[in-house]
Parts: sequence; C-alpha cells; structure tokens
Amino acid sequence: MLENISVIVQKMIAVSGGNLHDISHFMKVYAFSRIIGLQEGLPETTQITLEAAAVIHDIACPLCREKYGDTNGKHQEQEGIPLAQNFLSEVALPEEIKERIVYLVGRHHTYTDVDGMDYQILLEADFLVNADESHMSVDTVKAARNRFFKTTSGIRLLESMYGKATRKA
Ligand SMILES: [Fe+2]
Repeated sequence: MLENISVIVQKMIAVSGGNLHDISHFMKVYAFSRIIGLQEGLPETTQITLEAAAVIHDIACPLCREKYGDTNGKHQEQEGIPLAQNFLSEVALPEEIKERIVYLVGRHHTYTDVDGMDYQILLEADFLVNADESHMSVDTVKAARNRFFKTTSGIRLLESMYGKATRKA
C-alpha cells in the first residue's frame, strides 16, 4: 500500500497548478509526517493514512483563495472534505483508510479531540513547516509546543529546528 503514496504525491502535484509554494509546503509536511510516523513506530495502515493526509491536507487552499480571498482554517476544513473525497475516488486504497484521510483533512486546523497518532502527527508536522514559512516568534513556537506537541520525535524536531528556547520551562 505504501507505493500508493507516490501516486498520490504525483497526482497532488499535478492538480496544484504549478503553485510551487503549495507544492513545497505539502512536500515538507509529508516528509516530517513520514519521519515522525516512522520514529514513533506507527502500524502500517496508520502510517499510510498519515502520509496520504499530509500530502493532500491543504487541497482546499486554491479554492479558498478564489472563493474567500484567504485560507482560513475552518473554510479549508469544510471545503477540503468533498475535494479530498473526489481526489481519493481515483486512488486504490481501502475505503476505511480513505474515510480516515478525509476526516483528517477536515480537521487539520482543529486541536481538540485529537483521536489518533495520525491526527496528532499531522498537526505537529504542519506546525513545524508553518512556523518557518510564517516566521513565527520563539514565544509562539514555545506556546504551540506546550499546547499540543506530544510525540517525542516531533518535539525533538521542533527543538532542533527552533532552538532550546522552545523547551518546556
Ligand atoms: Fe499545511
């Protein structure tokens, strides 16, 4: 099943309309998700779910820019659900995995009721990338670390990337 991820990546790049910012964003989130998932020892189906969700999590960004003029998190979650369903309809994965991927796309800006390692790691990986892309302050990074980071690998990456100042007091 893991080979399906390469198909999903190719397809997601193809539908990104040459937007290199979007492409490099999801490739980075995918890479961090994969690394954290492997280090946390996820079962294969959870790892696949995580990697696929990481690749397509921002699938609604182009539509949201067009429709709302921004990439507000709630709009992205709502608009992302049907887009992700449609995207995955042509991908060979078991239905229950597709459903979980769609669920994660629909919640990737929601930090409550995080009900699985795939979900937790997607939030951490997206944050590791956004902190850099949005030039977040050390205080903001530290607050996020204390608020929702949980995995040992995610925290190690965050501290390596953003410095010891982000460590829990
Ligand atoms: Fe993202």
